[in-house]
Amino acid sequence: MVSKARKPLALDLFSGSGAVTLGLKQAGFNVVGAVDLNPGACETYRANHPDVMLIEEDIRKVSPDAFSSVIPGNLDLLVVCAPCQPFSSQNRRRSPSDARNDLVSTAIPFIERFSPSIVFLENVPGLESSDVFGGFKNWLEDDGYRVSKPMRIDAAELGVPQRRTRMILVAAKGVSLDRAIDIAKSGKKTVKDTIGDLPTPPIGRPPEGHDPLHFARKHSALNILRLQHIPEDGGGRESLPLHLQLACHRRSKKSSFSDTYGRMRWSDVSPTLTTGCTDITRGRFAHPKEHRAITLREAARLQSFPDHYMFKGNAAQVSTQIGNAVPPAMMKAIGVSLKAALFIQGD
Ligand SMILES: C[S@@+](CC[C@H](N)C(=O)[O-])C[C@H]1O[C@@H](n2cnc3c(N)ncnc32)[C@H](O)[C@@H]1O
Repeated sequence: MVSKARKPLALDLFSGSGAVTLGLKQAGFNVVGAVDLNPGACETYRANHPDVMLIEEDIRKVSPDAFSSVIPGNLDLLVVCAPCQPFSSQNRRRSPSDARNDLVSTAIPFIERFSPSIVFLENVPGLESSDVFGGFKNWLEDDGYRVSKPMRIDAAELGVPQRRTRMILVAAKGVSLDRAIDIAKSGKKTVKDTIGDLPTPPIGRPPEGHDPLHFARKHSALNILRLQHIPEDGGGRESLPLHLQLACHRRSKKSSFSDTYGRMRWSDVSPTLTTGCTDITRGRFAHPKEHRAITLREAARLQSFPDHYMFKGNAAQVSTQIGNAVPPAMMKAIGVSLKAALFIQGD
């Protein structure tokens, strides 16, 4: 249990661009350490969280002892957001032998070293039926943790203007698991609430002094023609006249990518943003009204990043960082319940 006098300590594994760290800080945690190997994401992390000890390295090569100076005693919260691609239903090339499958269990030495009161795991639905997940859950139980059932949670219920269903798992030792998983829902925020006030962006590289993330991709004349056929507030590739459809789409009507070329709806949440979230050929990523894909600024807002958050790297790297992130507002809502649990004794 934590005394009310100090902020609970957290360690963020697979920290990416720092979205989890941001949400946890907003919930009142003191995030003291983080690990990620992606140089671009780490640059973004350092720009926004210079106070946190970030180790830019393959986690398989990181000794937990490296964090001894910032975690003097026990840790309160360990967050494990291992890459989700091996389990994602959007990954058609997934294979059981994918080397990333075992990254979840790289958290074990950190648990042994720092005995966190809570271990929090976030991933895509799909992980819960994997051997990796079962093995990790059994290990936690053998180590004396009470482990929640895997819970499916939609970010849209936690104040994020986006449909993003995730699987979360909470393990608690010495503090209340029931309180930890009692996550307060909040009202729905729409695409209009979130990006409706943004001006029409320039096309291509933004001029000096302009928001560096708010610029539209240059679309081909053919794709602009296609977008002109997509009705405001919806539609999709099926809205296109035959001569504008892609040959592969004409052949297979029943693709899981039928959302491509579709527009977001003003009055709804956005679809799940992926690493290709500013590309109209990769999902429902067109603006509700204008003939263009959403901008990086719009994507960042739909992921609940505040405008002052600094993203480093080129456009492709930034869209990967945004698409990979756990929405900070989602993590804040979860963090509030995890923090409350740390003050309540449990079995
Ligand atoms: C789902 S993303 C995490 C997102 C992050 N929690 C956030 O909120 O932005 C997974 C992250 O794992 C990192 N990663 C993948 N393999 C890794 C490894 N072997 N060691 C350390 N980090 C790794 C990737 O660079 C990526 O940033």
